[in-house]
Amino acid sequence: MEYQTIALSREGPVAVLTLNRPEALNAMNSAMARDLTQALESLSKDDSVRCLVITGSGKGFCAGADIREMAGMSSTEVARAGSLLSIWETVGKYPKPIVAALSGFALGGGLELAMCCDIILAAQGTKLGQPEINIGIIPGGGGTQRLTRAVGRYKAMEMILTGSSITADEAASAGLVSRVVPAGQHLQEAMKIAQTIASKAPIAVRLAKQAVSSAEEGTLPDGLKHEKQLFLLLFSTKDKEEGMKAFLEKRPPVFTGE
Ligand code: CAA
Repeated sequence: MEYQTIALSREGPVAVLTLNRPEALNAMNSAMARDLTQALESLSKDDSVRCLVITGSGKGFCAGADIREMAGMSSTEVARAGSLLSIWETVGKYPKPIVAALSGFALGGGLELAMCCDIILAAQGTKLGQPEINIGIIPGGGGTQRLTRAVGRYKAMEMILTGSSITADEAASAGLVSRVVPAGQHLQEAMKIAQTIASKAPIAVRLAKQAVSSAEEGTLPDGLKHEKQLFLLLFSTKDKEEGMKAFLEKRPPVFTGE
């Protein structure tokens, strides 16, 4: 499949999706949202893909939704724009782990895209923010909800109401990124994490993602109940047998995804 606005590559069990509109700082337009939706759909059906990395080409990750495209749109047109409005939800619901590798800018819909991923690495020098207020709108890709869950009400309010961006180090201390890495090493470090995840038992990885995600969705008792169910479910997999046997036999496990 040929994509116009993204590039898709593979390194063994890890797929890398690169946002590829460097001339517009990888701003998310309808075409990119469509390309990403299609790529995610095909990658989710491919059992040989165990983990994804999303990154950006050129000067940074993504400077948000495409203002040039949105400038002439009415609310009805935006609401009808299909993938453009639902891409964040699509990424947020993706069942396999996604590592976001940020550099340069992660702003507006770009930061929202990163927050739909499971692990966020940011290169030194990355600016993160929700600048929508500067152009007379508010975040529309989940930023008011996910940023607030990530950094708390007061930091989120400051970022969303002032439109100011924060540095990678500030983001790390606020809990918005998993780790800050030296400039230029975000992709390399993200690949290392993705390959590590891809080497684990695939069903356990998926259920771990589900269990952690449910911590943000319901009450603590609901989350604990869900975790227990998923934990018990894993005791019927061959990979659980293999993982525990390998540990006792002091050898690396060979997982098959069964
Ligand atoms: N949409 C469309 N084009 C964009 C863009 C965006 N979000 N961000 C940057 N570009 C384009 C610029 O128009 C420029 O194109 P031209 O060369 O054709 O003029 C090119 O990318 C390079 O940008 P700059 O010259 O502005 O680069 P800079 O280094 O001086 O500044 C920046 C970088 C601070 C990120 C600045 O580009 C900027 O403020 N961009 C807009 C950020 C923004 O407001 N994002 C939120 C969008 S709304 C949204 O995301 C809604 C939502 O929640 C879903």
